[in-house]
Amino acid sequence: MVFILDVARLYSDRAGKMRKSVIRELLKVTQDREVISFAGGFPNPDSFPIDDLKDVVQYVMDHQGKTALQYGSTQGLTELRELIAQRAAKEGIKTCADEVIITSGSQQALDTVGKIFLNPGDYAICGLPTYLGGINAFKSYEANLEGIPLDNNGMMVDILEDKIKDLLKADIVPKFIYTIPTFQNPAGVVMPESRRKKLIDIANNYDLIIIEDDPYGKLRFDVGPVKPIKAFDDEGRVIYMSTFSKILSPGFRLAWTIAPPEITRKMEICKQALDLCTNTYTQFIACEFIKRGSLDLHIMKICELYKPKRDIMIKSIKEFFPDGYTCYKPKGGMFAWVTLQEGIDTETMFLDAIKEKVAYVHGKAFHVDDGGGRSMRLNFSYPTDEQIHEGIKRLGSVIKKKLEKR
Ligand SMILES: Cc1ncc(COP(=O)(O)O)c(C=O)c1O
Repeated sequence: MVFILDVARLYSDRAGKMRKSVIRELLKVTQDREVISFAGGFPNPDSFPIDDLKDVVQYVMDHQGKTALQYGSTQGLTELRELIAQRAAKEGIKTCADEVIITSGSQQALDTVGKIFLNPGDYAICGLPTYLGGINAFKSYEANLEGIPLDNNGMMVDILEDKIKDLLKADIVPKFIYTIPTFQNPAGVVMPESRRKKLIDIANNYDLIIIEDDPYGKLRFDVGPVKPIKAFDDEGRVIYMSTFSKILSPGFRLAWTIAPPEITRKMEICKQALDLCTNTYTQFIACEFIKRGSLDLHIMKICELYKPKRDIMIKSIKEFFPDGYTCYKPKGGMFAWVTLQEGIDTETMFLDAIKEKVAYVHGKAFHVDDGGGRSMRLNFSYPTDEQIHEGIKRLGSVIKKKLEKR
């Protein structure tokens, strides 16, 4: 069939402004089996607890099949929300099941937050760098994003406060501050407790909302737990979100948001039009998995699997990358963030890397300004140990060649 319809003239202004995800596009290139991919944010498939889950699935089918295969409530399975609230309480978050909503991944929660808070032209604040999926979700609602640089302790709150003052002077009230305070994607850094408290103070003083996105907080290798920002939230300003994607299975498409009841209700109404309810079947499975005490044991196993991978990546970078780069050694999470020498553009270098059968995500993808041109995000959770060593070696020689041509 010849497609002659000029469909672009029919799209809404909003659709015209939607940005494709650089990572999702890259993943198409990295389908080639020979490519060693540090690009995606994929958990390692060896970490999936397939045998344990077989047992849980059998149990769910035998005992709860008729409800697990049915539509569920939009807010999510009550028992699962209760378990999530109890687990959050252990981390210092004072909450209850009514404040929890289960979403189809945190990505849906980010989109929903964009939908309920952002009018075209509104302002929101995020990190520099920050999660690409957050940028795309908020931009699709035609928001302006103001970036705040990070240091090794996360978002720089003094600069944040100055930025808020500047915006207010120009009569602009930012709708929210989006932050990933623990094992940040892509930079890997953790915001210490003192800075978390400062961030809450800023939100309280300027009457703002914080979106705390926390997919990686449990993937800790060599550092103690830090309380979520939400734990210091006495005024109901923090919308906290986390996900089963990195601690159980991204295929489940299961995540949760904890927010004041008024916001949870608004998200629920929004979700009624999005997908009616989150996958009921996987909610029952996750619920039973937690009840058996399997989730925490499983998280420990994931950390045991990823820590040596992180070490191999950092060691290989030291061995193969030419001097003059900076690399932050993350204490958890799934990513290393590297900034290369002056004169290198990681976006154009990507084509050279693909020729050598190795992939990464270039730093610009994580920026809302023109920054990140010399940076790259490298995922260490997905490749095998051997692939990490070999892939970093290949990348090292791509960088060396690029430096010679400068
Ligand atoms: C910071 C951040 N937020 C949200 C998501 C989306 O996760 P989910 O699979 O729950 O949609 C990701 C996925 O990589 C992420 O890194």
